[in-house]
Amino acid sequence: GHSGHQPGSAGSPGSPGSLGAVDVAALTGTRPDPSAVVHHFTLTAQPATIPLSSGQQVSAWTFNGTIPGPELRVTQGDLVEVTLHNELPDAGVTVHWHGVDVPNAMDGVAGVTQDAVPPGGTFVYRFVAAQAGTYWYHSHQQSSEQVRRGLYGAFIVTPRDQPQPDAGTVQPVDDAILRHRWGSEEGVTTLGLDAGLQARQVDPGRPVRLRLINAETDPATFTLTGTTVRVAAIDGTDIHQPADLPGTRILLGGGSRADLIFTMPTTPVVLRAGTVGIVYSPDGRADTHTVAVPAQFDPATYGTLTATTVPTGGAPDRHYTLRIDERLRFYDGRFVVGYTLNDALYPDTPVLQVTAGDLVDLTIINRSGLDHPMHLHGHHALVLQRDGRPTTGSPWWVDTLNVAPGQTYRIRFRADNPGIWMEHCHNLEHAADGMTLHLAYT
Ligand code: C2O
Ligand code: CU
Repeated sequence: GHSGHQPGSAGSPGSPGSLGAVDVAALTGTRPDPSAVVHHFTLTAQPATIPLSSGQQVSAWTFNGTIPGPELRVTQGDLVEVTLHNELPDAGVTVHWHGVDVPNAMDGVAGVTQDAVPPGGTFVYRFVAAQAGTYWYHSHQQSSEQVRRGLYGAFIVTPRDQPQPDAGTVQPVDDAILRHRWGSEEGVTTLGLDAGLQARQVDPGRPVRLRLINAETDPATFTLTGTTVRVAAIDGTDIHQPADLPGTRILLGGGSRADLIFTMPTTPVVLRAGTVGIVYSPDGRADTHTVAVPAQFDPATYGTLTATTVPTGGAPDRHYTLRIDERLRFYDGRFVVGYTLNDALYPDTPVLQVTAGDLVDLTIINRSGLDHPMHLHGHHALVLQRDGRPTTGSPWWVDTLNVAPGQTYRIRFRADNPGIWMEHCHNLEHAADGMTLHLAYT
């Protein structure tokens, strides 16, 4: 059972109860543990005036009045039930569970898996949080505008088998940190936008997990210095036997996540993301240190190879290739650079057709001059190769893969979640401009 579990989520009502009369199997296609805890959350999309640290007041769209929206935190195996209310004056809204392989009907894609919830409307999302990890949620109706205006938050699933800390044992620090921006003002969660370096007091010896979430359109580099650190997970999936690193510099494309773990030393640990960051410090002061810039983290060679549920050898049942190119287009009276997928823009982009059970390979070639974080809904894919070379580290699973200029990746996934899904660039302006396609089960 899950007694003693706390539905920790700032500002959002959580009410674990028994499974009761909810017909979960019918709703989600999965059957949870009958003793599963049910978490009910309410997300209300509403306008709010948000003060920036520059003194400027901006009118934002929020979930429950804050940016980011409330952190939703559950335990693996729990049933998650989220009621979305739309109190925006004149826009439809949905909630997409980014990186969570939910059943198709719960994926929150307006126009594909559901209609956008109109002003005054309500929709209830129900799914089992099957995989522990770091995820986030955001509106998927006109997302390039709605995410920029503030409709997003962290979604955290803690492992089921994690021992509940007893009174007297050291509680781990477990912080979800979203990097976000309003105009030119940058921020990391809980610290407000444009907040510079802020301090967080942590006693030496405490285990710390930092769940980094890049909620921006542009790639973000997070740098951690002042301690030995491990990258424990990428895109919600554990790294097998992560090695100790003397600090790290990790690039996350828009939508990607990474978990860092360390034991708090007696001296400050500094996490930076551009001009903002957090100092984890024994005395609660925002003192920093001067150290060499750590080496760039490379998931292709990190951790230890081990067997996976998806075979890395042999031929797939299907193999699709996506070519990203840069094109000058005449738009609104001038030439602008646009990005195409196989020379097309949505809805003329190819459809990736699969049959349930297929092993599917996707080769993604970026011939443009910009990063494109390609996001696959409903599935996690194993990275097989980068630039023709097989990955040699821990199995590296992604739901959002940043493909840098000139790079070619080959990824592989099992078609095990039927429906019509999105695959798109998570630079949401690019997606809106046509870097979007469908994965469809036939
Ligand atoms: Cu984070 Cu299709 O979305
Ligand atoms: Cu893009």
